[in-house]
Amino acid sequence: MPKLYIETVGCQMNMLDSELVVASLRKEGYELTASAADADTILFNTCSVRQHAEDKIYSALGRLKNAKRENPNKVIGVLGCMAQKDQGLIFKRAPYVDLVVGPGQLHQVPALVREARAERKPRMEVSLGRTDGSRDAIERSHESFDPLRDPAMRPTPYQAFVRIMIGCDKFCTYCIVPSVRGPEQSRPPAAILAEAQQLAGEGCLEITLLGQTVNSYRYRAGERTWRLSDLIEALHEIDGIARIKFVTNYPKDMTDDLLAAVRDLPKCSKYLHVPVQSGSNTVLKRMKRGYTVEDYREMLARTYESIPGVAVTSDFIVGFCGETDEDFQQTVDLTRESRFKNSFIFKYSERPGTKGAELYADDVPEEVKRRRNNSLLALQNQICEQDNEAFLGREVTVLAEGPSKAAEKRDELGDRLQLTGRTNCDRIVVFEGNRRQIGQFLPIVVYDANAHTLFGEMVTQHVGPEVFGLALPLATPDC
Ligand code: 5AD
Ligand code: SF4
Repeated sequence: MPKLYIETVGCQMNMLDSELVVASLRKEGYELTASAADADTILFNTCSVRQHAEDKIYSALGRLKNAKRENPNKVIGVLGCMAQKDQGLIFKRAPYVDLVVGPGQLHQVPALVREARAERKPRMEVSLGRTDGSRDAIERSHESFDPLRDPAMRPTPYQAFVRIMIGCDKFCTYCIVPSVRGPEQSRPPAAILAEAQQLAGEGCLEITLLGQTVNSYRYRAGERTWRLSDLIEALHEIDGIARIKFVTNYPKDMTDDLLAAVRDLPKCSKYLHVPVQSGSNTVLKRMKRGYTVEDYREMLARTYESIPGVAVTSDFIVGFCGETDEDFQQTVDLTRESRFKNSFIFKYSERPGTKGAELYADDVPEEVKRRRNNSLLALQNQICEQDNEAFLGREVTVLAEGPSKAAEKRDELGDRLQLTGRTNCDRIVVFEGNRRQIGQFLPIVVYDANAHTLFGEMVTQHVGPEVFGLALPLATPDC
């Protein structure tokens, strides 16, 4: 059996792409290996959002130079966003690479690997750039790749990502995504529902719907236009699916129908990732985010009011072009008042090809970016800790996902082990359990908490001489 090694960096969209590429190669007889040295085919599924992610891939490629010299039969491929962005530059920087395949061309990977091995000629398959043709032609050149699911590659057998959109049309000035993932295109509801049905049939309990701006989902089918709220309502009907999440939300598209769906549908996770990016109107304008801080505050107030117990998370970019101490202070103020469940904080990384790189100087010194990053992180951690402490003594419902990181490290082999899972509002909970409880919804009482984890104990019932965990068939609307 030929062996495949795949390394994935980046977002959940990339994790899903890798799952589907692996599924298509398994169909060709490949088996996965954890070692690049043993592999016949080595693939990197790449990210371009920040320079750091690209550097990681180029150094991983550098380490393969000798391996390819020793075994010219090895096929080395670079897939995903960096492949689309750098194209032929990858062959220049690493001439032993065989394949460069953009995210809109992944359906071609099995044939390209076969041809690369037979012909030993480098091949590149990428989609059209955003100004390389008509909208229609560009859309067609970015194909959504969702035909196969591979249960073994999913995050856990009980959880799956489901793509509902590709691309992005928002063109935030710092962001490379609209160039590399192409125009915003929503998938037909029928295809999404069929995929979710298939996943439910395979025992999947939780699905996470994916889109760069997932709540901008719109699909016209005859007279009817489907919005995300309509889609979630239809997915809610599928037996077996017990929890529905969706990422990432665009603040301007957080409409009341969607908030009502999240509130009223018990399978819907009370968790929303709605990145604000900055608390300064001057910076938001330069980022071309399309809303003001006041708009965001209004949206957040509406969200907290409509959905009791909802957890909201955000992304921030610190040190964007021209960001002053005052701008940053406004971000700090917004963070303090917003009580995000968590925030992902990034230092601005200039991306060639974006409007930001063209129009504005990357003028905030690295040291200042680092300081702002650390101070915002410290504040957010303080908030996380305070909010998590409010859970002490409360009972939450947790989908047990698998062994905790600590249990994995200790390589615990017995049936009793430390498990990890998430509440309905996406809080991580660690507790002692039994291996057979993985994949069940369990009632857990929280006895300790830090910024990012709740520690709990299972609520048990005495049934005769043995003590059983109480497994619930459905996610309940508590958090
Ligand atoms: N530099 C730093 N962070 C970025 N992000 C997107 N582009 C950049 C960039 N050029 C961040 C945003 C986005 C998250 C996925 O990555 O916060 O929400
Ligand atoms: Fe990038 Fe903005 Fe689109 Fe998000 S909405 S993917 S940040 S361009």
